[in-house]
Amino acid sequence: MRRIITVVFILISVVFAGCSNTEETKRNDTAKKNVVIENIMSRRSVRSYRPDKIDSASMHEILWCGINAPNGQGRESWEVRVVNNQRFIENIDSLYNEYVSNVLKLEKAGHHVSYGAPVIVFIAYDTTYDLSQVDCGLLGENMILAANAMGIGSCCLGGLCRFINSEDGAGILQKLNLPSTHRLLYAIAFGYPDQVPQAKPRNMGKVQFVGNDKG
Ligand SMILES: Cc1cc2nc3c(=O)[nH]c(=O)nc-3n(C[C@H](O)[C@H](O)[C@H](O)COP(=O)(O)O)c2cc1C
Repeated sequence: MRRIITVVFILISVVFAGCSNTEETKRNDTAKKNVVIENIMSRRSVRSYRPDKIDSASMHEILWCGINAPNGQGRESWEVRVVNNQRFIENIDSLYNEYVSNVLKLEKAGHHVSYGAPVIVFIAYDTTYDLSQVDCGLLGENMILAANAMGIGSCCLGGLCRFINSEDGAGILQKLNLPSTHRLLYAIAFGYPDQVPQAKPRNMGKVQFVGNDKG
């Protein structure tokens, strides 16, 4: 009887595993072995970093990949600010903490918005160009993937920039020294990962082939 129950349990597990991995199994085997695709698929948001610094040659490579992203009309409409000064990052962490507990009234005391990353890259878009936010997104993903290929983790920080763009974050915004045409859009923390995050499930249901043969 116990054997029958075990077999039934295994069969049910296999069926469920098969259902949840349907999209995964549809993937092309050659693509799965491709280093670029493997790099894209292995990237995850890292929320805990080792204290090791990123050497300047690696950081330069990441930034160079960023600015080689496609950009509308070749305008390179972004402005990028790199913060690798630990005191500056600690200051950002503590001001954000005050904001979270005093203004948002959330119990997140001691929260490090930078997750202990040694570098934060701030990205601002040109408010006079309607597609500048696209440029900034592509720039960021290029940097994130270049970093991942070098074993460097990253995490986008949207909440931090919401704070910096608010009245309470004005002191930090001023230090970023952005031109008046630009507005801070998001930031990306970079550093050597101190965790191995798991992939969150993705929903292919939002992707549709329309007006064509099914792919
Ligand atoms: C525009 C944007 C803003 C984000 N802001 C934050 C943030 O403030 N804090 C954070 O921990 N993660 C942030 N993330 C990371 C997302 O939570 C993460 O990408 C998503 O959960 C998917 O997980 P994955 O990156 O590991 O695949 C942000 C991502 C994007 C694209």
